[in-house]
Formats: sequence, C-alpha cells, structure tokens
Amino acid sequence: MRSGAAEKTDFMPKHIARLLALMVLFGAVAYGAKQYFTVDSYYIYGHYRGNAVADIASDKPKFKGPAFCAPCHAAQSTEWSSGVHNSADLGKVVKCEVCHGPGGSRDVKGPYEHVSTGNDHPNNLKMAEPTDTVKLCTLCHEQITGRPAQQPQIVVADHAGTLQCTTCHNPHSPKTIAGSLLAGAPPGDAAAGKTLAAVCAGCHAAPAGAQLALAPSLDGQRQAYLVEAIRAYKTGQRDNKLMLTMVQNLSDADMQNVAAYYAGLSCRSGGGQDQAAVAAGHALATNCVICHGAAGVSRQPLWPNLAGLSRDYDVAALKSYRDGGRKNPLMSVMAKDLSDADATRLAAFFASTQCK
Ligand code: HEC
Ligand code: HEC
Ligand code: HEC
Ligand code: HEC
Ligand code: HEC
Ligand code: HEC
Repeated sequence: MRSGAAEKTDFMPKHIARLLALMVLFGAVAYGAKQYFTVDSYYIYGHYRGNAVADIASDKPKFKGPAFCAPCHAAQSTEWSSGVHNSADLGKVVKCEVCHGPGGSRDVKGPYEHVSTGNDHPNNLKMAEPTDTVKLCTLCHEQITGRPAQQPQIVVADHAGTLQCTTCHNPHSPKTIAGSLLAGAPPGDAAAGKTLAAVCAGCHAAPAGAQLALAPSLDGQRQAYLVEAIRAYKTGQRDNKLMLTMVQNLSDADMQNVAAYYAGLSCRSGGGQDQAAVAAGHALATNCVICHGAAGVSRQPLWPNLAGLSRDYDVAALKSYRDGGRKNPLMSVMAKDLSDADATRLAAFFASTQCK
C-alpha cells in the first residue's frame, strides 16, 4: 500500500502528462509544416492582410492598346480600324483588349512578377478568345430600359435566337454581315433577262407548289441571291450538272439580267401542306426564321426567300447542305445535325408560308 505522502509528490497524473507532451509535439509539427510548406511570399506580404487590398487595387491590368497588336495581327487590326467599333470621332471605341483581355502582365512585385499571369502576350500570356459572343456582345448591346438610345440595342431573342452573334457579324467589323459583301443588288436589265429566261421556263415555271418539281420557282426571289446561285452552278461551287449546262454560257451581264427579270416577277405561293408537319416544322424553325423570316421573306439580299419554294425542293436543298453537295458556311452549320424527318418538317413549314 502506498503512502499518502508519496501520492502528493506526483506533479500530475501520468496520463495528463502524456497528453500534454503529445500536444506540444503536435504544435511543433504544425509549426514546422507551416514554415516548410507555405510559400516564402506569405511571410513577406501576408496574403490575407487587410491593407493588401490597396496593393492589389493599384496593380491595374496593363493594357497595351491596339497599336501594339497591329504588327502581329494585321488582318484583324485592319478590319477593326475601319469597322464601327473604332469611331474615334464619335468617342465610341471598343478596343481589342475590351474583348480579349489585357495584353500586358499585371503582377509587378519584384521577384514575384508575372507569377499569376505570365509575361506579356504573346510569350507567356495567352489572350482570351471569346467563344460565347452572346454573353460578350450583349453586355453592351442588349436592350435595357433607360439605356441611352445612342447605344445600338437589340432584343436578343428576336434578333439572334440562340445563335452566336458571330454567325452573322464579323466581330472585328460588326457591320459586316456574313454572306452580304455583295449585297448591293447588281443593276440588271429585266427585259434582256426575259429573253434569256425562255430556256429556263421549261423547268422553273412549274405550277406553284407542285410537290414533285425539284426545279424551284424563281419568281420574286432575291436578285442578289439569284446572281450568286447562278454563279455557284457555273463555278461548280454548287455541284449540279444539269444547271451547269444551263448557265455555263451566261456572261456576268446575262446573269444580272436574268436575275433582274425573275426578281421582278411576283412570288407564287406554294400549295397546302399537312398541318401537323407544318406545326412541327414551325416549332423547329426558331433559328431559321432569323435569316429567312417568319413569313419566308429573308432579311438580307443574299439570304434567299423560302416563300414560294416547294417542300421537296427545300428538303433536297437541306440534305445537300448537310451532306456537302452545296457548300455555304451559314447553311452548312444550320443543316449539320438535321435528321431527314426534321428536314421534311422544316420544309413543310416554309412551303406553307404565303408570298406577300
Ligand atoms: C509580337 C507579336 C504579337 C503581338 C504584339 C500580339 N500578338 Fe496576339 N498572338 C501572337 C502569336 C504568335 C499568337 C499565337 C500564339 C498562341 O497561340 O499563343 C497570338 C495569338 C493571339 C490570339 C489567339 C489566342 C489563341 O489562343 O490562339 C488572340 C485573340 C490575340 N493573339 C490577340 C492579340 C491582341 C488583342 C493583341 C494586342 C493587345 C495581340 N494579340 C498582340 C503574336 C502577337
Ligand atoms: C467586340 C469584340 C472584339 C474586339 C474589339 C476585337 N476582337 Fe478579336 N475576336 C473577337 C472574337 C469574338 C473572336 C473569335 C473569332 C470568331 O469567333 O470568329 C476574335 C478572334 C480574334 C483572333 C483569333 C483569330 C481569329 O480571327 O479567329 C485574333 C488574333 C484577334 N481576334 C485579334 C484582335 C485584335 C488585334 C483586335 C484589335 C485590333 C481585336 N481582335 C478586337 C472579338 C473581338
Ligand atoms: C464595350 C461595349 C461593346 C461591346 C462589348 C460590343 N459593342 Fe458593338 N458597339 C458598341 C458601341 C459603343 C457601338 C456604337 C459605335 C458607333 O456608333 O460608332 C457599337 C456598334 C455596333 C454595331 C453597329 C450598330 C449600328 O448599326 O450602328 C454592331 C452591329 C455591333 N456593335 C455589334 C457587336 C457585336 C457583334 C459584338 C460582339 C462581338 C459587339 N458589338 C460588342 C459597343 C460594344
Ligand atoms: C442571324 C444573323 C444575326 C445574328 C445571329 C445576330 N445579328 Fe445583329 N444584325 C443582323 C443584321 C442582318 C443586322 C442589320 C440590321 C437588320 O437588318 O436587322 C444586324 C444589326 C445589329 C445591330 C444594330 C441594330 C440597330 O438597330 O442599329 C446590333 C447592335 C446587333 N446586330 C448586335 C447583335 C448581337 C449583340 C448579336 C448576338 C447576340 C447579334 N447581333 C446577332 C444579323 C444578325
Ligand atoms: C432542265 C431543267 C432546268 C432548266 C432548263 C433550268 N434549270 Fe435552273 N434548276 C434546275 C434544277 C433541278 C435546280 C435545283 C438544283 C439544285 O438542287 O441545286 C435548279 C436551280 C436553279 C437555281 C437556284 C435556285 C435557288 O433557289 O437556289 C437558279 C437560280 C436557276 N436554277 C436558274 C436557272 C436559269 C437562269 C435557267 C435558264 C438559263 C435555268 N435555271 C434553267 C433545273 C433547270
Ligand atoms: C445565318 C443565316 C441563315 C440561317 C440561320 C439559316 N439559313 Fe438557310 N440559307 C441562308 C443562306 C445565306 C442561304 C443561301 C446559301 C447558298 O447560296 O447556297 C440559305 C439557303 C437555304 C435554303 C435553300 C434555298 C434555295 O433557294 O435554294 C433552304 C431550304 C434553307 N436555307 C433553309 C433553312 C432552314 C430550314 C434553316 C434553319 C434550320 C436555315 N435555312 C437557317 C442563310 C441562313
């Protein structure tokens, strides 16, 4: 049996001593780990200091300005310089780095310079290439009540549907609309065109809406589009042997004349369509109507009217864009994933639109 005195001389119970030793050891390991694993700059700058905010705020993005970009990106710089986003006299300039981010590095802290951004573009710093232009462009262009009228505005859903802005607008010169470079309708002499069109009538004058007529009605079609379509058959860009023989001897003036003749005729509405197919096609046509118009009348001279075309012709054209027979950057994208069934529904809808 132990004496009471012996018990009193124990400094503390053994298990408490062990626990304390363990805690001291843990503290030492934690301190060592902190010294060993954190970056040195932590101890110099103290990353979470309240007064670092001023430091960070003073470290402005380093914009280089458009003149810096021009020597290396001549094409984009030329387009941009003459485009609407460079209206220096109106004081409305949207510079390269507004869309692409700053071209200069930001971190200028002695040995830690460039740690988070790298060096100036192009060595280390990769410029952002905007992929979601709907997000980018609507920052400035979405219609907002109270936004000054001088700022050009659009209602995105009506204007672009779900299409990217760059489907139609060149981002470097946004007034340039895809496929509209030759949009000014060439003059053309309709009377001279009428004479030339005598040989065309055999195929192109089939009764309105005749489902099996694969030669489309040309009456009332956009003049600039007709010229481009004839040119495409002549150059083989549209691979069609029949039409090649028909137009291979037409001169530029002939093409303009025959186009002027057909564009001047009144469009002939197609025949009745299966209403279920029309409704299904209508539901699919959200993005199509942005270019071809809800009533089949297009928004740009080089985008064809679809009112007056037969369903079967439209189906054949859509499949041809999809399968690469007809090559057109806009339509190839639009038709890329169309199933045969959807092509037929869309065609039924557009064939049901009535000429005005
Ligand atoms: C010294 C020549 C030079 C200058 C100046 C320059 N770039 Fe570049 N840029 C390049 C090179 C080289 C590439 C391709 C290398 C790469 O993919 O990183 C490139 C690529 C790009 C890309 C495409 C990004 C990508 O991922 O392919 C964009 C956008 C770009 N630059 C914008 C700009 C802008 C805006 C400026 C002006 C602020 C500018 N550049 C200044 C040489 C330059
Ligand atoms: C209004 C926004 C905007 C402005 C301003 C702008 N860009 Fe771009 N840039 C884009 C978009 C969007 C793309 C992606 C191209 C696409 O989707 O077709 C792009 C692409 C590029 C590319 C990659 C190659 C290409 O053409 O696809 C380069 C290089 C480039 N821009 C340089 C410049 C330079 C240099 C300037 C200034 C002179 C400039 N950009 C001004 C939006 C802009
Ligand atoms: C930082 C704001 C800003 C961004 C981002 C921007 N724009 Fe603009 N945009 C403007 C301003 C400001 C004007 C007017 C310039 C003028 O009136 O000279 C303009 C003009 C235009 C116009 C001509 C309107 C007209 O008919 O007068 C078009 C089209 C356009 N922008 C399209 C685009 C597209 C497409 C994008 C995206 C690739 C884009 N913008 C991104 C500010 C912006
Ligand atoms: C389907 C093709 C198409 C798409 C996609 C498109 N635009 Fe346009 N945009 C046009 C055409 C064509 C015009 C010329 C005016 C007109 O006929 O409506 C235009 C004109 C504009 C204008 C000038 C409007 C005015 O009243 O001055 C602005 C701003 C504009 N677009 C911005 C955008 C933005 C932002 C996007 C992306 C959200 C976009 N556009 C997508 C075809 C398109
Ligand atoms: C033997 C019948 C035939 C004759 C004659 C004919 N075409 Fe065609 N044409 C067609 C067919 C079939 C197509 C559709 C081809 C296709 O799917 O690309 C077509 C397509 C076209 C298109 C494209 C229309 C569109 O909406 O894209 C134009 C324009 C055209 N023809 C003009 C003419 C002209 C001008 C003449 C007279 C010089 C002519 N054709 C004579 C059969 C004919
Ligand atoms: C960005 C504008 C644009 C959009 C969106 C668009 N198209 Fe087109 N479409 C065109 C252009 C441009 C052509 C003429 C192409 C050519 O020259 O071959 C065309 C041609 C056509 C033709 C052939 C017309 C003829 O006379 O030969 C059909 C059919 C057609 N589109 C249907 C559609 C359908 C269906 C959709 C929706 C899935 C659609 N398009 C979306 C621009 C567009």
